[in-house]
Amino acid sequence: GATKVAMSKFDQDSYINYQRIEDNLAVVRQRYVALALSKDESRLPPPRSASACIAAGSLIQPDDLNRPLTLSEKILYGHLDNPHDADIRPGASYLKLRPDRVACQDATAQMALLQFMSAGLPTVAVPTTVHCDHLIEAQIGGVKDLARAKDINKEVYDFLATCTAKYGIGFWKPGSGIIHQIILENYAFPGGLMIGTDSHTPNAGGLGMIAVGVGGADAVDVIADLPWELKCPKRIGVKLTGKISGWTTPKGASLSIPPPLPRVLLDGISADGNHPADVILKVAGILTVKGGTGAIIEYFGEGVTSLSCTGMATICNMGAEIGATTSLFPYNERMGGYLDATGRSEIRKYAERFQHNLRTDENAEYDQVIEINLSELEPHINGPYTPDLATPLSKFAQAVKDNNWPDKLSVGLIGSCTNSSYEDMSRSASIAEEAAAHGLKVQSGFTITPGSEQIRATIERDGQMEKLESVGGVVLANACGPCIGQWDRQDVPKGTKNSIITSYNRNFTGRNDANTATHAFVASPDLVTAMVFGGSLSFNPMTDSLKGADGKEFKFSDPSGKELPPRGYDAGENTYAAPPADRASVNVIVDPKSDRLQLLEPFKPWDGKDPKDLPILIKAKGKCTTDHISAGGPWLKYRGHLENISQNCLIGAINEANGEANKVQNQFTGEWDGVPQVAAQYRDQGIGWVVIGDENYGEGSSREHAALEPRYLGGTAVITRSFARIHETNLKKQGMLPLNFKNPADYDRVKSDDKVDLIGIKDLAEGSEVTLRVHHKDGKTEDLPLTHTFNAGQIEWHRAGSALNRMAQAAK
Ligand code: F3S
Repeated sequence: GATKVAMSKFDQDSYINYQRIEDNLAVVRQRYVALALSKDESRLPPPRSASACIAAGSLIQPDDLNRPLTLSEKILYGHLDNPHDADIRPGASYLKLRPDRVACQDATAQMALLQFMSAGLPTVAVPTTVHCDHLIEAQIGGVKDLARAKDINKEVYDFLATCTAKYGIGFWKPGSGIIHQIILENYAFPGGLMIGTDSHTPNAGGLGMIAVGVGGADAVDVIADLPWELKCPKRIGVKLTGKISGWTTPKGASLSIPPPLPRVLLDGISADGNHPADVILKVAGILTVKGGTGAIIEYFGEGVTSLSCTGMATICNMGAEIGATTSLFPYNERMGGYLDATGRSEIRKYAERFQHNLRTDENAEYDQVIEINLSELEPHINGPYTPDLATPLSKFAQAVKDNNWPDKLSVGLIGSCTNSSYEDMSRSASIAEEAAAHGLKVQSGFTITPGSEQIRATIERDGQMEKLESVGGVVLANACGPCIGQWDRQDVPKGTKNSIITSYNRNFTGRNDANTATHAFVASPDLVTAMVFGGSLSFNPMTDSLKGADGKEFKFSDPSGKELPPRGYDAGENTYAAPPADRASVNVIVDPKSDRLQLLEPFKPWDGKDPKDLPILIKAKGKCTTDHISAGGPWLKYRGHLENISQNCLIGAINEANGEANKVQNQFTGEWDGVPQVAAQYRDQGIGWVVIGDENYGEGSSREHAALEPRYLGGTAVITRSFARIHETNLKKQGMLPLNFKNPADYDRVKSDDKVDLIGIKDLAEGSEVTLRVHHKDGKTEDLPLTHTFNAGQIEWHRAGSALNRMAQAAK
């Protein structure tokens, strides 16, 4: 009979579907490809099933997918929306996938949920959770900080709590812990596919799940039942040999050190010889700049099982720092043990039945293979804020001197989503215990952020917390805290040069404490903990001694810790709110006076006409990234309030007319004003407008605000030499018209004070041409050909006014 295994204890009505992976793979492996396409057909993806090929009159041959597949291929193809017809070309085509679940953190969830609400759909299409972790500021200690955060963020939390209840989403309240730790403890499962609105979502790869960090727009698609698009990833195989072991690396620094790493690779890579974090440092050293971009990093080899499940999660978490789509480990007994310990033996058994799909096929090929001997890794420390430096521990003291970094350590911080497992905490506690036995207390500040309430309660019960506190550690709330700059730091005034060391994953300038003079270093939790007793950066716990209270010198032993709690986890306080059975009566709370949150009105459908006489809001010159279109920083406070955040729309773009940012001319009044102001003036007069853009317009992040804002301010079209693909799609989703000059040189033919007509919108079809009729100020007119990349489904989005409107129509 059919096995039904619930996806989690909180999702009793949603089941893991290993059979779908099996079935999809069978389809994919038996596909055919059409030969000899006519010229006309070659534009389109070829039909993939034998019958479709024959119907199209094409000759057929078996597709090449009947070959050994890697693990990531199996999981991805196992989640295809259209296994029969999908165009599958790693590094080239786009896959339409059906993820098993969605996770959002509290900052990015706001706009995603507001958008979802505006569609009027009754419930999310897949199991979804929201996690309150990013908005809690560290000040005094866990309990008080949490109470303060609940007060400061009340409007956001009230909104998220009621909105999740209304639409069937699981809600993890403030204090529950960090999204990725809670996912690993409760939701991740081998062979699953998840998207999350946070860049360290790949953490769940430690449990064999393909988990990808995405922008809010992707999350909205999936919860509204649209398939999720992912560029078919390349595969990088990392073969692990040898064994990871205690921190004393065999024979010191015999290992060749990776060359100075490119910035993008190094930012936030922590390292310590015997900590899993060092593995990713090594991977980063071998791959070149952005070496992981567009690829899934798949680990395999006999070294894998020397890593704990949470250690594998750490490695996957930090893979985000080298640009990888995600990282992934094959199912193994360490995962099985973790599933048992977290109350999911049913999932372990089920996974074992389908193990053949949860590992790479023999002889499968990767695009690139790297080999790493775990026995040879050396501890590294990364930073400071010019993150071009990964220094081996053995050379670090010298580097501190040479570079004149402040040697005195002011604060050591452990925890974060990267390094806050029971094992990490136990190892740190073992170091604290040894120091305490010699009568020592910390010589610098020392903070601990448990990854979840479950970790906090378990280390409290099992005594690790007491050990950490008794030496002077301060346990902060179960949240991101100082990792995301939520740190009301009082020990040094802003602007004072000082050093901190963390076990987090990123160390941008000012990220932790908004003090650009703070030198932030990153290392393993073991090293951070040892160093707070040394009180200086130049203390090397592997080789240097400390003086105990009795005057006797001692050296730290190897840190040791239990991988899993011998008495099982203690769930602690209940911090989860399941959506209620009766959701009809739930009212979503949005304070109409709030400046942080605002309900969204659905955008108006297209009026059915070709747009005419549109002014050019701005002709942007040169680079125009999503940061130019929707700036971050202080604006992020308004990410849930479209009207307020729209005040940053295109303020970074350079106006070709005057070479200035945020200064454009209203073509009707002649007045010069800011870009968002003029856009709103046009909108309020009922006048649509266009943006003219240069090359690769909208590159950068997938920030959905960059598409929502111009639409909100009444924009009709964005016409460029070329688009960054994600932004182009985001514009389509919001009902805008992203169009391209057929001849990129025509960009120069349009002037900022021209008016334009768009001819051919009425007949918009896949591959159709649109004409830009330009009315120059001198009365002359010229026609310029435009192209577009709309497919039939996306044209429906435009007609309906947005993709969400379309989904709402379809649901009726
Ligand atoms: Fe939070 Fe820092 Fe992780 S911000 S999700 S703890 S990287």
